[in-house]
Amino acid sequence: MKSSIGIIGMGWVGASTAISILNRGISKDLLVNDVKKEIAEGEAMDLNHGSSFYPSAKVRAVEVEEMLDCEAIVITAGRGGSGDETRLDLLNDNIKIAKDISEKLKGYKGILVIVSNPVDVLTYYYQKFTGIPKHKVIGTGTFLDTARLRDMIGTKISIDPKSIHAYVVGEHGDSEVVLWSGADIGGEYLRKWDMWKPEYEQEISEKVQKAAYEIIKRKGATNHAIGLVTATLLKWIMRNERRIVTVSTVQKGPFELEDVAISLPSLITSDGVEQIVEIKMSEKEKERFMHSADVLRKAIDEVN
Ligand code: 2OP
Repeated sequence: MKSSIGIIGMGWVGASTAISILNRGISKDLLVNDVKKEIAEGEAMDLNHGSSFYPSAKVRAVEVEEMLDCEAIVITAGRGGSGDETRLDLLNDNIKIAKDISEKLKGYKGILVIVSNPVDVLTYYYQKFTGIPKHKVIGTGTFLDTARLRDMIGTKISIDPKSIHAYVVGEHGDSEVVLWSGADIGGEYLRKWDMWKPEYEQEISEKVQKAAYEIIKRKGATNHAIGLVTATLLKWIMRNERRIVTVSTVQKGPFELEDVAISLPSLITSDGVEQIVEIKMSEKEKERFMHSADVLRKAIDEVN
């Protein structure tokens, strides 16, 4: 298996993921594909022309079948949705694309990173359609929501988001759950910090949950933060950094979940998800998390 990355879908998110990968020198070989061949070719040309400014790498537009040697393949293909559609509203269109792409991925042995929405339901189906082991099919899930949460908490109390330990779990979508009860900074519960006000919780939870809608309303799509999230996840996978991050995988065990893809803090290695953390939740948070799992279970069952 070659140390290279493939990206399927070179729209806004694919392009932002690609530039983040290149800027950080994550892979020397970047293979890109789009159902509109010329888009992938154009992106490859454009990205290669910037090669004086990032660690040496080559970008090539290829067919999906030429990616099967990659260590990781990212899927961003699919419709992104308009500001008034939920992520689950995209399922009927994007499941068809998932089926087509999965056919071409038969025999692939590397890590599959799903970004397209609804990311949890698609993670579930990509795993089923391709037969790749569950721990190797990883949806970006609430990694992005967790990043948004940390940014918003940090802005409120003037602390760098990298020093904030707070998580969003559940669906990457409307039923997601912010785990306020265990959030901490510097070993002290966030709720105990003088600068923290209880009313911030509702305000920030809503802002995190509605973030994508607000951005899509203004610029038509979200791309930069998800590009950074995806590139970072790939970096940690490729370097076997063994980081813990909230991503979505088909669960079997934690919280008695069975056969549903949903985000929980997960230990990531170069072989995929090694372990799921049964993170502490208050009663209320757990109730909401189980509700989120039900929402996803229902969406999975509604696909025919
Ligand atoms: C996001 O949250 C739309 O899922 C995408 O930015």
